[in-house]
Amino acid sequence: MSIISDHLGIRNHHLTIGGVDTVSLTQKYGTPLYVLDEDRVRRNFRTFRGAFPDADLYYAAKANWNLSILRIIASEGAGADVFSDGELYAALLAGIPPERILFNGNSKTLNELQMAVDTGVRVSMDSLHELYALSDLAVKSGKTVDVAFRVNPDVSPDTHPKIATGLAASKFGIGYADVVEAYKEAKKLGGVRPVGIHCHIGSQILDVAPFGEAVEKMMDMVEQITRLGVDLKFVDLGGGLGIPYQEGMEAPEPRDLAGAVLPTFNERSKSIGIAPKLILEPGRYIVGDAGVLLTGVNTVKKAAKTFVGVDSGLNLLIRPAMYDAYHEVVVANKADVAGTETYDVVGPICESGDVIAKDRELPSVEPGDVVAVLDVGAYGFSMSSQYNGRCRCAEVLISAGGVDLIRGQESYGDLLAKQVLPARLL
Ligand code: LLP
Repeated sequence: MSIISDHLGIRNHHLTIGGVDTVSLTQKYGTPLYVLDEDRVRRNFRTFRGAFPDADLYYAAKANWNLSILRIIASEGAGADVFSDGELYAALLAGIPPERILFNGNSKTLNELQMAVDTGVRVSMDSLHELYALSDLAVKSGKTVDVAFRVNPDVSPDTHPKIATGLAASKFGIGYADVVEAYKEAKKLGGVRPVGIHCHIGSQILDVAPFGEAVEKMMDMVEQITRLGVDLKFVDLGGGLGIPYQEGMEAPEPRDLAGAVLPTFNERSKSIGIAPKLILEPGRYIVGDAGVLLTGVNTVKKAAKTFVGVDSGLNLLIRPAMYDAYHEVVVANKADVAGTETYDVVGPICESGDVIAKDRELPSVEPGDVVAVLDVGAYGFSMSSQYNGRCRCAEVLISAGGVDLIRGQESYGDLLAKQVLPARLL
């Protein structure tokens, strides 16, 4: 497998990321270890920006909401798509301006809606109940919130069913048929100002055609809503651009996405006689390939198959177990040695589904080796857990060849921090 790319390389048989030797990182910080490459994040962001010079980019914080990543994103001038109070808190703390934050979510709490009112962010609403609740809270606070409805455009992208979000039966958004009614209702209410429309059709989409279909449908709705007298200031098409996880996998680039959506967006806006801002919410494209998980080999066992037992599993990277996701793996300390044996790389979690990589040709693996799992910058750490009583690992950030710790490894104290023993059990 060829792993050489702009930010990954090989030096002295070791895998490097951003010019830094991954094996020496594990000697200093231990394993497991998440490593993120700042320069790669910036480069990806700028590539996306280059394809959409006139759009607003709202980075999808759920992909990776480490504060350092959010700071980098903020410094690039991006806004954020946040999906919870915690993501909102982190995005604001990182310096992303509230007027460039869209608070998404299909089941927000009243506390979350109040937080949106208090902080002055935009809200993407997912139901009429939410509209009424938000209006009520905003009126009570003497504020007016800029809102959009998340619309379900009923587009079926070719992706894993668990990450296709714009199908008719998906839990997200309001149905195509209910959109006009929803905007009429929003126009009548105090405390909310309908200024946008939003959709997100899914994630890890490798063909831009469904985005073209979505923009057509969205612009049909924009036309109807404009006729109601709603002054739409933005049309948000969500995120979803896929990345090539597997060698040989073809993935579109942001310019391909632009080719699929911009002509329709521009022509239809013009014919309707409005000039809304286009918003996109890329997550995976910005951070996905900028992260590597370094995991130490504990055991190698020959049974029906040959298993490499490593020190991180679905607790730190759930994508393979949850979506049968493919991630390339490299023996970081033998990065230029050809594969000679077929292994399953498995985690330490008590679940038979805890398999990181199946049937991979790797050089002969021994305890003490370090396996690098590639393309884990998005939905890696952000989906981690403490299952099986495992401390979450440290994260480091590489920039211009330097290394900073951006999250310390959790301690046993962290594992138990919020547990309380009732006095009668003392
Ligand atoms: N906007 C909204 C409203 C979203 O729900 C998402 C992702 C995005 C933007 C960003 O999508 P992206 O550009 O990253 O594809 N955990 C799954 C992915 C779930 C995506 C959820 N929504 C995975 O690991 O593949």
